[in-house]
Amino acid sequence: MLIAIDGPAGSGKSTVARRVARELGFTYLDSGAMYRSVALLWLACPTREPAELAREARIELGERVLLDGRDVSAEIRSHEVTEAASVLAADPRVREQLVAKQRELIGTGDWVAEGRDIATVVAPEAALKIFLTASPQERARRRAAELGADLATVRAELTLRDTRDSTREQSPLKPAADAVRLDTSELNAEQVVQRVLQLARAILAP
Ligand code: DC
Repeated sequence: MLIAIDGPAGSGKSTVARRVARELGFTYLDSGAMYRSVALLWLACPTREPAELAREARIELGERVLLDGRDVSAEIRSHEVTEAASVLAADPRVREQLVAKQRELIGTGDWVAEGRDIATVVAPEAALKIFLTASPQERARRRAAELGADLATVRAELTLRDTRDSTREQSPLKPAADAVRLDTSELNAEQVVQRVLQLARAILAP
């Protein structure tokens, strides 16, 4: 069974997806970490074709993110990688490679997968589709607190990234028609986790 959680940066996807997976005993898939890993490779070899790098990359996701056997969990969260990942994510050939890897992973077992296009492109057959949102101000506040960074700067970068992620031609960020939309602006992580668990349990044991 697959639970898909999509939404913009700062909507609470990672925290919620991780906790829901733990509660249900499912495996957690952070698809953004894959785009970030390819971005890291590309920054190191900017003359290489990004889609080739995506095809060759051996990305292992778990407690830590391993790229070709190397632990890159911290490196892929850098400012530079965040920007590059957002640029690469607009490349249809990169997406094709990574979507194939994601489908292979979720093909067997029980998963909570988070990203931008899980319910719309990667797995439209997902048993439960959640689209998390929150106001831009609240998302920026959360991100700034997480990074210990200046709120105005984070807000400006987030707006830029939102625009890039939602206006790109290929798999733009948008809710699936049958997704349950949850606005988390006024909710804490625990409340969102409980709501998603409630929806998941209704499907697991109707
Ligand atoms: O969720 P994140 O911030 O780690 O994602 C990094 C970048 O990758 C972000 O700009 C959006 C993009 N992304 C995507 O286009 N599709 C996904 N399924 C996951 C992430």
